[in-house]
Amino acid sequence: MNILILGGGGREHAFAWKLKQSPKTSNLFIAPGNAGTAALGENIALSVTDFDAIKKLVVEKNIQMVVVGPEDPLVAGVYDFFKVDTDLKHVAIIGPSKAAAQLEGSKEFAKEFMAKYRIPTAAYQSFTAQSLEEGKRFLESLQPPYVLKADGLAAGKGVLILEDLETAKTELTAMLQDAKFGQASAKVVIEEFLDGIELSCFVLTDGKNYKILPTAKDYKRIGQGDTGLNTGGMGAISPVPFADDTLMQKIEERIVKPTIEGIQKEGLVYKGFVFIGLIKVGDDPFVIEYNVRMGDPETEVVLPRLASDLLPLLQATDQETLDTATVDIDPRTASTVMSVSGGYPEAYAKGKEITGLEQVKDAIVFHAGTKLEGDKVLTAGGRVIAITAYGEDFEAALQKSFAGTEQFQFEGRYYRSDIGFDL
Ligand code: AMP
Ligand code: GLY
Repeated sequence: MNILILGGGGREHAFAWKLKQSPKTSNLFIAPGNAGTAALGENIALSVTDFDAIKKLVVEKNIQMVVVGPEDPLVAGVYDFFKVDTDLKHVAIIGPSKAAAQLEGSKEFAKEFMAKYRIPTAAYQSFTAQSLEEGKRFLESLQPPYVLKADGLAAGKGVLILEDLETAKTELTAMLQDAKFGQASAKVVIEEFLDGIELSCFVLTDGKNYKILPTAKDYKRIGQGDTGLNTGGMGAISPVPFADDTLMQKIEERIVKPTIEGIQKEGLVYKGFVFIGLIKVGDDPFVIEYNVRMGDPETEVVLPRLASDLLPLLQATDQETLDTATVDIDPRTASTVMSVSGGYPEAYAKGKEITGLEQVKDAIVFHAGTKLEGDKVLTAGGRVIAITAYGEDFEAALQKSFAGTEQFQFEGRYYRSDIGFDL
């Protein structure tokens, strides 16, 4: 089978690494890919939201499956684009339809879905510029901290958590009236703050059946001890040590089952990954958000723990036969540590040479923002390299991730040396 992976980050390198191991994979294409994926298949320079370019590539290379990495093409309707095109409709797309992708593309849609299917989540109300004054009054009725969420996609920046009521009102005004996050904040969800510890649960679904994949926990803040600005993710661990059988049972019964049931009852076409962001408050799980794709860097610890061949699982997802598939999980812990460009998540330099990658032993090197120039590997993004390692427990795995990270270098490189500090 010829496969196209859309995207160019660490997540897509991990997908390419896993799919390359399948005896059923023939040619692997990654668009746009990075220096790491270039060693596993053919990189194709295109924008993941340029559907006409994707069509041309799929037809030309006789691609039979497209695995969609990031959310943008999904929310923009890449699934539907394929299914209404006579040249493309036979191609398996791993991802949800445009309607189902609203679970990530609109916070309000997701909150209404959760309310309807009684899935535990923070209490909320949503507001527009017309109802700004009601929004301010709603804030007055809440206890701090205040949680404001832009309804639409805002590249992971659309959530504000504020201690002070006046600041919260000012920010609400900026979002609704002054388009702080552009069109994404034309609507704002204000919700109750949940105090607990976060974890993520990953589910593969064909729209009716589901398989639960390993849990993971990522570290989103740039600074040690979870301080400073939000990033795409600075490291991850799988499994989450506190996600014991009792918690997992609650997550499956209260959250996963009603989510898949809701998808089916709403008639949403969904053949892909559901990433459920959770927070454990006391002993109970609540949903913080849905993402309609895998996480990055979570994929760099989840896929290495999948002992089964991924390709038959994705084929079963496409054919709606996931109930007959089996998922074997490696019992070891996997950890990943992300090296980022100095300055990230704010302005940073690109084009720095990365040296020493060949010295990384006993770990997997996943490239994120990298590119090849001749035989050199250069930085090409904020998040640059993720080093994944296995261990008996998260401490042992992390020791190897950090040792691997110390083997390579680039100017201005930064990483968090405290991944797992809160466990
Ligand atoms: P989101 O983009 O929805 O994942 O939100 C970004 C981050 O904000 C989450 O990873 C949480 O750390 C935090 N967050 C979001 N909603 C809440 C909430 N209701 N209570 C506490 N923290 C939250
Ligand atoms: N690491 C968080 C995400 O992929 O959304």
